[in-house]
Amino acid sequence: MKIIRDAFTFDDVLLVPKVSGVNSRYMVDTSTNLTDNIKLNIPIISSNMDTVTEHIMAIAMSKAGGVGIIHRFNSIENEVLEVTKVKREQNIIIEKPYTVSKDTTLEKLRELSFEKKVKSFPVVENKKLVGIVTRRDFEFEENPNLKIEDIMTKDVITGYTKISLEQAKTIMNKNKIEKLPLIDKEGRLTGMVTSRDVKLLEGYSKASKDKNGRLIVGGSIGIGSDYMERAKALINAEADFIVVDVANGYLDKTADVVRKIKKLGVDVIAGNVATRSGVLNLKRAGADCIKIGIGPGGACLTRPVAGVGYPQLSAILDCSNSGVRIMADGGISKSADFSKAIAAGADTVMVGGLLAGTDESPGVIITKENVNYKFYRGMASINAFSDKASKTDESVDLEGYTPEGTETLIQYKGSVTKIVNNLVGGLRSAMTYLNAKNIAEFRKNAEFVLLTDSGKRESKYK
Ligand code: XMP
Repeated sequence: MKIIRDAFTFDDVLLVPKVSGVNSRYMVDTSTNLTDNIKLNIPIISSNMDTVTEHIMAIAMSKAGGVGIIHRFNSIENEVLEVTKVKREQNIIIEKPYTVSKDTTLEKLRELSFEKKVKSFPVVENKKLVGIVTRRDFEFEENPNLKIEDIMTKDVITGYTKISLEQAKTIMNKNKIEKLPLIDKEGRLTGMVTSRDVKLLEGYSKASKDKNGRLIVGGSIGIGSDYMERAKALINAEADFIVVDVANGYLDKTADVVRKIKKLGVDVIAGNVATRSGVLNLKRAGADCIKIGIGPGGACLTRPVAGVGYPQLSAILDCSNSGVRIMADGGISKSADFSKAIAAGADTVMVGGLLAGTDESPGVIITKENVNYKFYRGMASINAFSDKASKTDESVDLEGYTPEGTETLIQYKGSVTKIVNNLVGGLRSAMTYLNAKNIAEFRKNAEFVLLTDSGKRESKYK
């Protein structure tokens, strides 16, 4: 038995400032790579935990320039549905627009407009587009018995089913129209593009998008019996990458699953490990990015239960420069931790608890003595374990289970955007202090000093 080395975590160190020509936080570029194929504008990933990431969080993260990973603690069908909701979010094409027929009355149209909160309707007959009725056509009409046929525009400007963003924009600008119905070769209505959606899409210039302009999202799988079926279903739903999510990434089975999923031709993120040998093992199996972190998470009990782990800053340092992308996972409780993780060599950082308790995290707000909370739990907590059984049809032995995760109420924090902005703001500030215009320079210039107890107190770390 031997003690091999001292190991440190975020609060044990500070980054050393340098003479800097980077005079403003806005001069820095925070872009990074999740995998060699996937570029992000900010290095933040929301955890695949059931109290952190479903489609609403994933959409917010991707719009902010990071990405979210849908958790796997549900049926394959539900995980796929969550992925699909993200992929559809910024689709400029409304695939099933509400329609009316020629003999719908004005009264009925107004009711429909109020109910569906929609002001333009394609008019169809036997599925074929025969006209369009927009707010301008009916806003000032007074006779409720008028038929759509009498007020609709008959010469409709249309596009073809698989129109691109650029083509739709050109047609809409040229003809000064706000709605563009799409048709197939037989003239059947197949969708509609609205100028509002086009503008919204263009507004998110920092968003993480796939080659078709849709938001990116990851799906997660375990190493249990359904992993291949789940991975195939997620790829089919166009998840941009798959996370092989295992608490113990050192298991032979983890590497084996990575090897098999890689054969499906998708980018694979695998973990968790905390040492260079663990990283190299998963790299050999084909992983495109490796998650680093054994036990640093806020809801983790692995260290007190199993006595196994590795302080997170040293783990990142040990795993960096291994010739593969790495993602630091867990233990981020403030922006300083995030900056130090990146400085130590993480390409991206996964965050759970800090993003939980927000508007975008799953779950309801619970009010206790006039304070609002949301629930946050480790995925190896007893509650998550028993819920998993009911949601995935897996049989579990609750009696024999030793939980390695906790459950807690965390104070409700409002929008996740504020938290993401704080993390990025801290990173930008650290980059100016270290004379770094981009992440590569930040890493190159990073030097840490070890803190004494009084140094920690002075740094407000205690
Ligand atoms: P933070 O600190 O951001 O950590 O809340 C999120 C990460 O914690 C991991 N995780 C767990 N680790 N038992 C553990 O030991 C658990 O029950 C558990 N649940 C989540 C996971 O890596 C996550 O991204």
